[in-house]
Amino acid sequence: HDLTHANTLGLPCVAERFTAPTSLAALEEALVEARSRGWPLTLLGGGSNLILPERLPGLVVRPAMADWWQEPGEQGRVRVHAEAGVNWHDLVMELATRDLWGTENLALIPGSCGAAPIQNIGAYGVELAEVLEAVEVLHLATGRREMMTPAACAFGYRDSVFKGALDGRVVITRLVLALSTAPRPRLGYGDLAARVGATPSALEVAEAVCAIRREKLPDPARLGNAGSFFKNPLVAAGLAARLLAEFPEMPHFPQPDGRVKLAAGWLIDRCGLKGWREGHFGVHERQALVLVHFGGGSAGELLAFAERVAGRVEERFGVSLEREPRLAGTG
Ligand code: EPU
Repeated sequence: HDLTHANTLGLPCVAERFTAPTSLAALEEALVEARSRGWPLTLLGGGSNLILPERLPGLVVRPAMADWWQEPGEQGRVRVHAEAGVNWHDLVMELATRDLWGTENLALIPGSCGAAPIQNIGAYGVELAEVLEAVEVLHLATGRREMMTPAACAFGYRDSVFKGALDGRVVITRLVLALSTAPRPRLGYGDLAARVGATPSALEVAEAVCAIRREKLPDPARLGNAGSFFKNPLVAAGLAARLLAEFPEMPHFPQPDGRVKLAAGWLIDRCGLKGWREGHFGVHERQALVLVHFGGGSAGELLAFAERVAGRVEERFGVSLEREPRLAGTG
C-alpha cells in the first residue's frame, strides 16, 4: 500500500499492509489480528507530523472513525466529543461557526483529532491541553479502553505522555473538549489582535488565524512539509542573556521555570538559511522553521539536510535544535 500521499512531506513509503477502520469494533479487530500474527504496528493520523521510511513492514493502521457530537457541559460550557479520524481543522471551523470558543486559534493545523494530543498542538498562544477534558485510548497490549485525564497525559510544549511512556502502547480513539459559549478571544500573539475587530466572533478569529498561516506556511498539498521541523528551544537564562547582549532584537520568551524559549525560525533565518535549498529539500522561504520537500527525496536525505541546518545554528549560537516530527517505523 502506497503511503506517499498519506504524509504531508510527500516522502515515498510503501506499507506492507494498511487498514483504515471506520468503527471502534473494526479498529479493535485489526489490532487483535496484528497482535496474534506478530505484525509490527504503525499508527497513522493525518500524516502531517511524521517522517516515513521507504518501507514499513507489518500493519499500518489509520483510525478513520469520524463522528463528532456535542452535549451541554457545566457553567456555560459545551462538551464536544470528536473521534480520532475527524479532521482537526474541519472541526475547528464547525465549532467556530457555532460560536463555541476555545479552539479558534488552532485553525488550519493539518492532521486528525486523534493525532492532536500527541504533540499537544499549539499556535497563536493556545495549546490543545487548555481545552481538553479527556482523551479516550485503547491499550494495544490488552485491548483495554481508558479515559485519560489531562494530568495523566502529561502535556508540555509540543509534548505528552503519548511521545514518552505510552509511545507505541496506546491508540487514541476520541477527544473530549470543553468549549465556552461565552466569548473568550485570545489575541495576544503576534499581530492577531490587529487583524480582527474589537469584539470579534470565534469565526472571525479562526479566519484571521487561517490568513496569517497562509501567508507564512506552505500548503502541504502544493509543497511537501510537516509544519515546524524543529521545536523552539528552551535555553538557560545565562545563554539567553549572552545572546541578547549580541542580538538585542532576538525574540525570546522567559518561562516560569527560569529558562527562556527562543524562536528557532529566527535562529535559522539569522544563519542566512531562509530559502536555502540542497537537493530535494530546502528551508521555506517565508518561515525558516519549516523544511520543505520539492519531490524525489527520501527520509534519510531529509534527516541529513535537517542536521546541516541544526549544525549551523549550533555553530553560530551554541543552541541545539530538537526535531519536532516523529520518525515512523522505529518503535
Ligand atoms: N522568525 C524569523 N524568521 C523566520 C521565522 C520566524 O525571524 O523565518 C521570527 C518571527 O518574526 C517571530 C518569531 O521568529 O518573531 C516566531 O515566529 P512565528 O510567530 O512564525 O512562530 P514560530 O515560533 O516560528 C510557532 C509554532 C508554530 C505556530 C506558531 C504560531 C513551534 C515549533 N512552532 O512557530 O507551529 O503556528 O508558533 O503560534 O512551536 C507547527 O508546530 O508545525 C507550527 C507551525
